[in-house]
Amino acid sequence: MKPMEKTDQIFKILKEELIKGSTEKSHPFRYFTLGTVGLDRVTRQRTVVLRKVSDELKLYFYTDLRSKKIIHIKENSKVGLLFYNPEKLLQLKIEGLATVIKGKAIAETYDNDIPENARKDYTTALAPGTPLEDSGVIEYLKEENHFCVVEITPFKVEYLKLQRPEHQRVRFSKRQELWSGEYLVP
Ligand SMILES: Cc1cc2nc3c(=O)[nH]c(=O)nc-3n(C[C@H](O)[C@H](O)[C@H](O)COP(=O)(O)O)c2cc1C
Repeated sequence: MKPMEKTDQIFKILKEELIKGSTEKSHPFRYFTLGTVGLDRVTRQRTVVLRKVSDELKLYFYTDLRSKKIIHIKENSKVGLLFYNPEKLLQLKIEGLATVIKGKAIAETYDNDIPENARKDYTTALAPGTPLEDSGVIEYLKEENHFCVVEITPFKVEYLKLQRPEHQRVRFSKRQELWSGEYLVP
């Protein structure tokens, strides 16, 4: 098999793994590390849940519109994503452009997909990250919410599989809507 065909096969596998991460609750790709860099030029990282992967490999997660990550994304839409599967010793590093989706378009997602007990994540009276008064009491909004969806359109994906005798590292880049892969020294 020619190397180019092999990278196509690897791309197919990594896409399947990402889709499984969004559909299978116990899959290690269900959670990923999202890195953002705002105007302060300091990387800020956090764990988020992978909610959906589209056929064009767009990735989606849910968050509060007032959170720091949204402030960062508005300042700089380039984000980094890190996925790790410890059973397969497989790491994916993704770079992409993030878009915040809010308003009427996603009101239906909130109504249909967010169970009552999870709505607390998007309805705190104060913005996430605000220091609490000594009482530690968290107050919630009754009517409104600050739910939003973030869509990430990847432009680079780096695949690393640790294995013997040789690790496998492939960098995929998207140009004019087409993905191409090249092997890298692991
Ligand atoms: C297991 C786990 C899953 C999480 N999933 C999400 C998520 O899907 N969306 C989200 O906004 N925060 C999620 N969080 C909280 C974030 O890691 C983070 O603490 C929070 O969003 C505030 O981040 P920020 O201040 O950098 O915006 C999760 C945390 C853990 C531990």
